[in-house]
Amino acid sequence: MFKRVPGTKDILPDEISRWQALEASARDAFALYNYKELRPPLIEEASLFDRSLGASTEIVQKQMFLIHNKDDLYALRPEGTASIVRSYIENNLDKSGKISKLFYLGPMFRLERPQKGRLRQFHHIGCEVIGSSSPGVDIEVISLAESILKAGGIKGYTLKINSLGCPQDKKKLMALLRDALAGKKDSLCEDCRIRYGQNVLRILDCKQEGCRTIVGELGTGAVLCGECAEHFTRVKAGLEALNIPYTYTPVLVRGLDYYTRTVFEFCHGALGAQDAIGAGGRYDNLVAELGGPAAGAAGFAFGVERLLIAAPPEASNSGNKLVFVISLGERAKEEGYNLLAQLRKAGIAADTDYEDKSLKGAMRNANDLGARFVVIIGDNEIAKGVVTLKDMATGEQKEVERDGCIEHIRAVS
Ligand code: HAM
Repeated sequence: MFKRVPGTKDILPDEISRWQALEASARDAFALYNYKELRPPLIEEASLFDRSLGASTEIVQKQMFLIHNKDDLYALRPEGTASIVRSYIENNLDKSGKISKLFYLGPMFRLERPQKGRLRQFHHIGCEVIGSSSPGVDIEVISLAESILKAGGIKGYTLKINSLGCPQDKKKLMALLRDALAGKKDSLCEDCRIRYGQNVLRILDCKQEGCRTIVGELGTGAVLCGECAEHFTRVKAGLEALNIPYTYTPVLVRGLDYYTRTVFEFCHGALGAQDAIGAGGRYDNLVAELGGPAAGAAGFAFGVERLLIAAPPEASNSGNKLVFVISLGERAKEEGYNLLAQLRKAGIAADTDYEDKSLKGAMRNANDLGARFVVIIGDNEIAKGVVTLKDMATGEQKEVERDGCIEHIRAVS
């Protein structure tokens, strides 16, 4: 017996309609905001992620699915931003002179310790806007993210925002933190003792109780220069103008090195320890860092599995218009296959029982499938040139002309 790899999931037919509904409502939201889809490959050169996410980040250090191929080292993408920026540069999308507003949906891979809401293969719904440093873009992506949550019927989420400032501001904050934590290093958790040397900012959002207390006592937040402070003020004012509630969270730093200025995270109580359903921010230096032009950029990604934990259960499948054809006896079978073909040709979803079940068994089958109508054809019906049509929603059952049956179904459904 083969088993799926730990931290991966089969998305079964019973669950797929929730996925499709969420994906469809996200696509509608992207279209409303005039974003276009870009589908990069799932594998990239591993060094793309070292360069963009940062060599000392947890993802690059511990969570990459690496593929050795002769002299090349590839990686299954752990996130979408780096691939989108690579594609933007490689395909000269900057030459269009327009701001690129791009979205993507698909699987991401991180070699993490699996737990609720934390998988090794998970899915992102995300977007990236490349080519503008305007605070209007930060406001647009946050508002778009909120629209996706609303379209998915997700309630009870909170939005945290912070600004890390420009690279100089980030350096100042790091130096401040190192000074403030120098005497407290021994009280930090094991991971944070390593972070102190490699990635001191991450100590700010460590989830360990001891580290949180130490950080709380520091009261340290970003030290923004004039321009970055002005940018952040405008982002906050824009969110207020759109009535998007947020909590300013000075310890929000995010686990990827590319962020500058605005960072944000949507959280939800249904998730437990891994409560971020989506996150993003601005990354003004990444495009140039990867060899492209100087281009401001911002984006976000939602974790689809986490959105589905937070989303309400599926609405009843009253939208199901399936017609189930039951033919009883050899002669009826041919009639049944004909009708099945005609229904499908007419654009009506139709199915049948190929197993020669009894009427009772076939009706149970139709019921299990959530069919809206059942069409029964037996010798009696053939002799009269009719079919028996049962409306499963009302329970009403009647004979209708064989030739007018499709029109009848169309009129009622
Ligand atoms: P991220 O915070 O690493 O950001 O991932 C975004 C979201 O993906 C998280 O908030 C979470 O919902 C989900 N997620 C992350 N890891 C897992 C996992 N192991 N299992 C299940 N869900 C997970 C990024 O990836 C950035 N690229 C977002 C971005 C786009 N920033 C700017 N543009």
